[in-house]
Amino acid sequence: MLHAARCQAERFGYQEIEVPVVEPEALVERGVGGDTDVVRKEIYRIQPMVEGGGTPLVLRPEATAGIVRAYFEGNLNQGPQPVRLWTAGSMFRHDRPQAGRYRQFQQFDVEAIGDPGAAFDAEVVELTWGWYRDLGVEGLTLELNSIGDARCRPAYLERLRDYFVAYRDRLGADDQRRLETNPLRLLDSKEPALVELREGAPRITDFLCDECVAHWDEVRSLLDAAGIGYRLNPYLVRGLDYYTRTVWEYQHESLGGAQNSLGGGGRYDGLAEALGYPPTPAVGFAGGLDRIVLVLDAQRGGPRGRPAADLLLLPDGEGLEVAAATVARHARTATSVAADYSRRSLRAKMRAASRSGARWVAIMNPDEAGRRVVQLRELDSGEQREVTWADLPAALAPGTHPGDLA
Ligand code: HAM
Repeated sequence: MLHAARCQAERFGYQEIEVPVVEPEALVERGVGGDTDVVRKEIYRIQPMVEGGGTPLVLRPEATAGIVRAYFEGNLNQGPQPVRLWTAGSMFRHDRPQAGRYRQFQQFDVEAIGDPGAAFDAEVVELTWGWYRDLGVEGLTLELNSIGDARCRPAYLERLRDYFVAYRDRLGADDQRRLETNPLRLLDSKEPALVELREGAPRITDFLCDECVAHWDEVRSLLDAAGIGYRLNPYLVRGLDYYTRTVWEYQHESLGGAQNSLGGGGRYDGLAEALGYPPTPAVGFAGGLDRIVLVLDAQRGGPRGRPAADLLLLPDGEGLEVAAATVARHARTATSVAADYSRRSLRAKMRAASRSGARWVAIMNPDEAGRRVVQLRELDSGEQREVTWADLPAALAPGTHPGDLA
């Protein structure tokens, strides 16, 4: 999964960056937003054991704020723009652990920092869409919205607040607070009462300023030109406060309910300034790797690991360790190889090999070891033939079948 992420990021000219797992609390609060669930309920705070407590630190819940800080502190803002970066690693959010929601989880994160153009929103979508395609994820929905910017959003928020105030007594305590602090958040509430109420709420896309409309139109036409299908979702606002204009989420029904987001991102032109740096436009995405595992398992009808090795070497008899290790060494020049040195019967070794998902087995008894040959069998086709140790790498080359060597 990470290999596919790296390949896809490199194909689009994104460079790898590593940022700290432990961050100052202030960076996360200012970046993600003090009134988000992430900061209010999900942050792991670290108490340094020093007099006075030291700088309050947290385990990072996401990587974007740290990457923006690195972009400035590492003077990446001084070179050609935008700067295209990617990272992958552990993020931490406290919650009741359940399928698809973990306290430590892995993200693949992509950021294009330093250019306001809609082409970069579309580029990040195309990159990440292709990543899911390369992984074989089927039935993915891309949901898309624009949530305006600092110019047009305040007026919309007023209208939204006016709308919901009339229903204040139908809102829970948390949502009543959100009504005052950030009414946008009411739109992605999973509360049944709110889901019903929001149908009649004003829609942000009807309130966008001319610049936001132009940006929004361009993003959609670029995605259309790329052949990427999407669903417009006027209620998609994302759970972090830093977004402006384009936001999107990849959803998958097999995840169900509140965990159905496989990944999400958006433009965040105001984040650099919120962190105390010069205003700098940017767009990015993060996708959870753990949730992809769930989706792929569901797709395949159950968990299935990748084979540990392409070829399993099955010595059949006593005292074949040196010969087996020598054969394995030859074969590794062509593919991944593991030897089954156990003392079980050949039948038992064959059964284990079939279950492992390996493509090939190479069987070798003492007589064959003496003649420096193995019986190479392709498990799917059942084709088998004798191959010399020296010929083994050629026999294992991609696209080769045992019969080809006849
Ligand atoms: P996010 O939507 O908070 O965005 O998280 C992105 C993805 O991380 C989710 O779609 C999900 O797959 C995964 N994820 C989040 N929380 C959990 C959890 N508790 N357990 C398992 N997986 C989880 C961000 O983090 C933004 N930084 C994305 C971004 C980058 N926006 C701009 N640049």
